[in-house]
Amino acid sequence: MRDSVWVQWEDNAEAFADLIADQGTPHNREILNPCVQKLLGDVKGKYLLDAGCGEGYLSRHYARLGARVMGLDFSNSLIELAQSKTAEEENIEYVVGNICNLDSIPDATFDSVLCNLVLLNVSCLNDAITEFYRILKSSGTLVCSIVHPAFNFYGPGTWEMGEKNPVTNRRRGLYFKVDNYLDEKEFERYWKTRDGEKFPQPITFFHRKISTYVSTLTSAGFVIRAIEEPLPPPENDFFIRERRIPFFMVFKAIKE
Ligand SMILES: C[S@@+](CC[C@H](N)C(=O)[O-])C[C@H]1O[C@@H](n2cnc3c(N)ncnc32)[C@H](O)[C@@H]1O
Repeated sequence: MRDSVWVQWEDNAEAFADLIADQGTPHNREILNPCVQKLLGDVKGKYLLDAGCGEGYLSRHYARLGARVMGLDFSNSLIELAQSKTAEEENIEYVVGNICNLDSIPDATFDSVLCNLVLLNVSCLNDAITEFYRILKSSGTLVCSIVHPAFNFYGPGTWEMGEKNPVTNRRRGLYFKVDNYLDEKEFERYWKTRDGEKFPQPITFFHRKISTYVSTLTSAGFVIRAIEEPLPPPENDFFIRERRIPFFMVFKAIKE
């Protein structure tokens, strides 16, 4: 696949890997990852697909917890970076592949599929979910996370900001404005590096309703076991805005 979205991730690969830096952003670390890990459950001895693995920090995390991991991403550059960050003895195989079509993977291969912050970047939601269902073993678990569609500035909303808090260096949120939530759309946004520089290319996002995610999962045959809107730790003032409005949404679905 060599379309414009692929070119974006290729050109942004180094900037993205620097931002993630083998550990994820503060939002990933403090809010999302503990919830994802809880929903995945004990991965020891399980065969896990990290679908859209990026620079692979979650592949490495779950391999260290005892999973056998396949880290798959359509960006050749990100897969190369992931490989360069992984020791040979770690139980991870990295593969260049597209979650829209996983033909090279036989049916019923994996115990678990993790798709962390990827589905909002793909146009092929239905194909990806159908493929995840096919390659999971019976009773296998899919955990997928997205930026919360209702309060997502890659879509129909944005914060009205107040003054900057000199301690956290973040601006106060006055209120979050949402409009046209029902209008499913493609957006482009530039991400910034840790130094505040724009990424070389914008990133494409697909805004979808929560009900679209739910109906896509259930139409593919999944039973949804949990939908979570994880909270940040209460003691961290950096996340005052994220204690008022959920930043992420996480689904756990089972192939039954
Ligand atoms: C926001 S990043 C998340 C990366 C990783 N899951 C994480 O949590 O750090 C989205 C990733 O999805 C990958 N991606 C986007 N579309 C894809 C597709 N159709 N097939 C496979 N990977 C894709 C991008 O290359 C990028 O690595």
